[in-house]
Amino acid sequence: MKETIIILGANGQIGTELAQALRKKFGSLQVITSDIREPQILSENEIFEPADVLDKDGLRSLFLRHKPTQIYLLAAILSATGEQYPQKAWDLNMNGLLNILDIAVELGIKKIFWPSSIAVFGPHSPKKDTPQYCIMDPNSIYGISKLAGERLSEYYHNKHGLDIRSIRYPGIISWKTQPGGGTTDYAIHVFFEAIRTGKYECFLSEDTALPMMYMEDAVRATIQLMDAPAENLTIRSSYNLAGVSFTPREIAKEIKKILPNFEMSYKEGDPRQAIANSWPQSIEDDYARKDWNWELEFDLEAMAKDMINNLKTNG
Ligand code: SER
Repeated sequence: MKETIIILGANGQIGTELAQALRKKFGSLQVITSDIREPQILSENEIFEPADVLDKDGLRSLFLRHKPTQIYLLAAILSATGEQYPQKAWDLNMNGLLNILDIAVELGIKKIFWPSSIAVFGPHSPKKDTPQYCIMDPNSIYGISKLAGERLSEYYHNKHGLDIRSIRYPGIISWKTQPGGGTTDYAIHVFFEAIRTGKYECFLSEDTALPMMYMEDAVRATIQLMDAPAENLTIRSSYNLAGVSFTPREIAKEIKKILPNFEMSYKEGDPRQAIANSWPQSIEDDYARKDWNWELEFDLEAMAKDMINNLKTNG
């Protein structure tokens, strides 16, 4: 079957690179990118349609025009920005998802990807090797909206047969597009500043371990999950994905191996510390490995090398 894909929130950190990968796989004309903002660059043969995920009528007419077979809903407000604008974060993260789920049922669009996050875990979840199923008591509005979204996804799968698939992304590290308003953003800023000024003041303490993943792995995981036979998938809420866990101290050490003069300092009192403290330090992803043969490629060393090479050449 010829696939037609619509990516909503396509101008963000993940959308930008996922769109490139999907265009390569399915052909440029089969992938329609969409966002509330116009993209900075649009090459020939690339289709962009402006849309607001909170505008249900606009979405319906977009879907009726393009008849997508797959939808990727990436529009969201992340953890740190969510704490500044909780009402807006709840509205966008929840009602955006509900709009897509409802229209998908109405128009018979079956296959949907929607990302969840490590933010669904909370202070009473196990901190190390956090399993797929455990106590989940997120205390950021972002985490609360993602956990509710996971429950909705499973509900729409069970009730309406939607083929919805999801990953609990760790912090995603990339050099092409900067992230917006997350707690894990330090792990990207640190590379940009290491190249630009040779130093970085980190807003998380040096021993704050968090699960992270290089963008190449995140994009590959997403496409691999979307390609997996539906009958192999035992999870319709969202799959844990371990990635690689490290602290600011460890990433600084890795950068210093390549840029020996790099200096990291730490600033106390940032509100993102409390969010980070409520999240897992490492995650278990046995279901992803069993159900769709997931395997990580980039460890911390490979990620640091690739980030620095790319930022030096293309940054
Ligand atoms: N990277 C995200 C954030 O920090 C987590 O999903 O908000």
